[in-house]
Amino acid sequence: MRFHIMTLFPEMIMSGLSESVIGRAQRTGLISVNAVNIRDFSKDKHLHVDDYPYGGGAGMVMQPDPIFDCYQSVTADMTKKPRVIYMTPQGRVFSQEIAKELAMEEELVFLCGHYEGVDERILDEIVTDHLSIGDYVLTGGELPAMVMIDAISRFVPGVLNNKDSAAGDSFHDGLLEYPQYTRPEVFHGQPVPEVLLSGHHANIEKWRRQQSLKRTFERRPDLLLQAADSLSDEDLHYLELLKINACQS
Ligand code: ADE
Repeated sequence: MRFHIMTLFPEMIMSGLSESVIGRAQRTGLISVNAVNIRDFSKDKHLHVDDYPYGGGAGMVMQPDPIFDCYQSVTADMTKKPRVIYMTPQGRVFSQEIAKELAMEEELVFLCGHYEGVDERILDEIVTDHLSIGDYVLTGGELPAMVMIDAISRFVPGVLNNKDSAAGDSFHDGLLEYPQYTRPEVFHGQPVPEVLLSGHHANIEKWRRQQSLKRTFERRPDLLLQAADSLSDEDLHYLELLKINACQS
C-alpha cells in the first residue's frame, strides 16, 4: 500500500513513521510513505505558499496553485484517481471502521493543511474525504495523517507479525479489549487472575469475553449499543448481571 502525503513538513511525517511496526513495514516493502513538500511547488521567489484571506480576518490561507501542482506530481503515475483525504477538524471522525475500509485502497493521498486553512477551491477540486481525528483543533494535519496511516497500516496483511493481534484489538468486534498480563505472576502483591494460569482454554476465552464486556460497559457504554447485533445471548445475560451489580453498588 502506498501513502502519499502533501505537507509543508515532510520530515515530520517521515521521521514520525520511521520507527517500530510502521518503520519495519516500510523497510520490508509492505507499505511506502512518500511525504512531498508543497513548498517545492511554489512559483513565488520567496517560496510562499500562503496569502491573506479575501474578505479580511486573522491568519493566512494556503494557496491552491502549489497544492494543485503537488497533487499532479504525486498522482502523475497513477492509473486511477486516488482517494484524497483532507485532514480537518470539520471532517467525519476517523474510526477503526474507516481505517479498515481505507486499507483496501492501493494508494492514498493525504493533504495536510496549516495556517488558518486551505483555499476552498482546491478542496472542491481534488479532495474525496474530509476526516478528523477528534473534536479538538491541532496546528496542522501532520499528526492526524500519521495517526491515520498507523491505524490503516495495521490492516495491511503482514504488517502485524502476529496474525491474531488485529483480531483481538479493542473495537475489533465493537468491544474494548480484555486486560493482559505477563510475568511476574505476582506484582506488588497483585497476582495474575487465576484462570489465566489454569491452561483451560475455554474458561480463558469465557473470562476474556466477560472482561471485554465489563470494560466496555464501564468505560464506553456507548459502544455497547453499536455492538448490539454481534452480542450473543450469553453476552446479554452477563451484561444484565453487570447492570444489576451497578444498580446495587
Ligand atoms: N487539523 C487540525 N485539527 C485537526 C483534527 N482534529 N483532525 C484532523 N485534522 C486536523
